[in-house]
Amino acid sequence: MKKSIFGFIVVLLLLLTAYNINAAELPRETEQQKLQRMQWWTDARFGMFIHWGTYAMAARHEWVKNRERMTDEEYQKYFELFDPDLYNPSEWAKAAKDAGMKYFVITSKHHEGFCLWDSKYTDYKATNTLYGKDLLRPMIEAFRAEGLRVGLYYSLIDWHHPEYPIDRIHPMRDNQEFREKNKNRDMNKYVEYMFNQVRELLTEFGQIDCLFLDYSFPGKDGKGRHDWQSEKLLKMVRELQPDIIVNDRLDLLDVPGGWDFRTPEQFMPRRWVTVDNKNVPWETCQTFSGSWGYHRDEASWKSDRQVIVMLIETVSKGGNLLMNVGPTARGTFDDRALAKLKAYGKWMKLHNRSIYGCTQAPEEFRIPQNCFLTYNPDTNRLYVHVLEWPYKFLHLDGYAGKVKYAQLLNDASEIQFRENRGAWMSRDQGLAEDTLTLELPVQAPDVTVPVIELFLE
Ligand code: GLC
Repeated sequence: MKKSIFGFIVVLLLLLTAYNINAAELPRETEQQKLQRMQWWTDARFGMFIHWGTYAMAARHEWVKNRERMTDEEYQKYFELFDPDLYNPSEWAKAAKDAGMKYFVITSKHHEGFCLWDSKYTDYKATNTLYGKDLLRPMIEAFRAEGLRVGLYYSLIDWHHPEYPIDRIHPMRDNQEFREKNKNRDMNKYVEYMFNQVRELLTEFGQIDCLFLDYSFPGKDGKGRHDWQSEKLLKMVRELQPDIIVNDRLDLLDVPGGWDFRTPEQFMPRRWVTVDNKNVPWETCQTFSGSWGYHRDEASWKSDRQVIVMLIETVSKGGNLLMNVGPTARGTFDDRALAKLKAYGKWMKLHNRSIYGCTQAPEEFRIPQNCFLTYNPDTNRLYVHVLEWPYKFLHLDGYAGKVKYAQLLNDASEIQFRENRGAWMSRDQGLAEDTLTLELPVQAPDVTVPVIELFLE
């Protein structure tokens, strides 16, 4: 009896030590250190997501293999015939830079399993297509040359690897015969492949600034942290690239150091994203038209105004926007995407001061009707993004005594203002003692969203 209790305690101690060693594996840092590590990223606010793979040929969503339950054999034609002959990554990089984007994140491998780089660990890669060349390296070089930071997306999920166990989102999920035949697939072998590839990506391409791992779906017939060996993977990532910024899809939300930022996808959070009631770094990824991969027939393209307001709204809630482009299988950004990027560029050229280095405004500044606020804590300037141009006056309740100077941002023309102390407009019952009233021209400036820059006291 005594012996077995002793044994039990020894096992318990061993388990606890193992757990502690494990928990201690991820580098610890203070909140301040984390904010500092991420500062270039929170200052940047705006990046480009690129989803590119052989699914661009199907041109009907990057999940086409899954949605249409295609076998490897059926999907193989895209691999064999992939030939992006017009590919010129300098053009992509220039388009991103001109749009005002400061970093980019490219799908080095998406769920289909196809690799854009010349990986040692697979034949399913760009160099073995008709095109015959590495697509990733020249892209990284081109974006770096334009001064953009480099992010890699890597799919944890793999619908091509022969050892990747079939699960509830695998293209072959409903094919019982296939499942039966493949029931002995060895996750450990796949995990080894994944670790090798991630190591390759983080050692052979110089400094990688962000890593977007995608994604976990734990539970029945799914995959989560134990399947991916997430902690071990993340530990390796941080060892190889100590400054790297990593997303939150490894299923490690409850592990200290298990993620750097949250990633709400294809919806606009109502407020600054929180974890345990605390504001955390966040980046929303969005599409111009709904699909991530190139989609020829999609009609739900957002307007110029919508995509610009999306950026403003994101920053007004303290977040980053990662806006996606799905290049064609010829290797080009199609005209619709280019037009959206141009719209961003035109607006950003005049207004990027209200985006870069900006965040949510301090609480004391109430958000006026039909507006979003952004704020730069370094320059102490507040930006009023006016979504609906009001007639002659914009009343800012609670702002009296807090503003030194006001101007339109697009042309630096003065906006005169009055403070209400003497009730100069006593006809308007809505004006309080502390209201500051901007006197606006009747005609709105000819920009998609006008911005008023307030120099605060
Ligand atoms: C997803 C999808 C995907 C896309 C991604 C972007 O989880 O599976 O196709 O790459 O989110 O965030």
